[in-house]
Amino acid sequence: MRILTGMQSSGIPHIGNYFGMMRQTIELQDYPDNECFYFIADLHAFTTQRNPEEFRAHQERCVIDWLALGIDPKKSLFYRQSDIRAHTELTWLLLCQANMGLLQRAHSYKDKLARKIEANAGLFTYPVLMAADILLYDAEVIPVGKDQKQHVEMARDIAQKFNHQFGEVFTLPKPRILKDVQTIPGLDGQKMSKSYGNTIDIFEDETVLRKKVMSIQTASVPLGEPLDPSGCTVFAFHKLFGNPNLKKLEQQYKNGEIGYGDSKKQLFELIWEYFREARERREKLLLNKKCVQEILEQGAQKANTIAEKKLSEVRKKMGLDGKHLA
Ligand code: TRP
Repeated sequence: MRILTGMQSSGIPHIGNYFGMMRQTIELQDYPDNECFYFIADLHAFTTQRNPEEFRAHQERCVIDWLALGIDPKKSLFYRQSDIRAHTELTWLLLCQANMGLLQRAHSYKDKLARKIEANAGLFTYPVLMAADILLYDAEVIPVGKDQKQHVEMARDIAQKFNHQFGEVFTLPKPRILKDVQTIPGLDGQKMSKSYGNTIDIFEDETVLRKKVMSIQTASVPLGEPLDPSGCTVFAFHKLFGNPNLKKLEQQYKNGEIGYGDSKKQLFELIWEYFREARERREKLLLNKKCVQEILEQGAQKANTIAEKKLSEVRKKMGLDGKHLA
């Protein structure tokens, strides 16, 4: 089964992203029946990013972080959207098949309008670029968070309409909604989100991570008093990171045998250990960017071959078959 998903490179991956979707996405490559295509959706990031240095930094960071977290280019195809020109060309061809009404119904767009965020035309047509990302590769299953379900359905609608109009070219994709792991709390106990400024990045530097963990908001309870594990963000993190001594910790909370400070210190160790292997892989990648470059080049080459073949079928169907006049 061909599985494809894109990861927008508009920020630095944090722990909320990791438990929300990254981990589940990466695991898909380990099932022998899956053929996984993963790409960094950097063109999509232009809908919000204006600064070239920042754009480049985020793009590189996303490439390296995803590889470090386990995307294995031997098992999966990994590439950058911007390396495959066919995405932008197909977008135009599909835009001319997509009704305004379809795009106006997109939740993500309506949400931006409702919040009075100024929308550029890229943001409005974002789902069509996403449709091109998917349809170029005959992807069958698209694992996404529930906020992206509608976009995949739009890709399916556009594909259906195209096939009907011009003849069968596109495989119809289906969304697969990634399980909603419990909401991941941020430093202040609200949902972890870049827009709340309460995130912990996956590859935080050691001192910063320690500081952030120590700054997690907790109730004010005098030392020696019992603590309530159920309302405690620190405890929630212990659980999320699979603390093997969770039961014991729970007892210590309830018996007043541990304070927030010690619980946080243990949490820091737990998080630091949890990402140790990934961090080591990442350090190697950072020291050997040539190798990263090669991975991207090989990915781009393979992806290009597939995408170009599909694009030329599409062009032919539409009458763009390069025939000379008479
Ligand atoms: N829009 C997706 C997101 O923000 C990223 C994305 C771009 C994508 N192209 C895609 C996901 C194609 C799946 C398939 O999460």
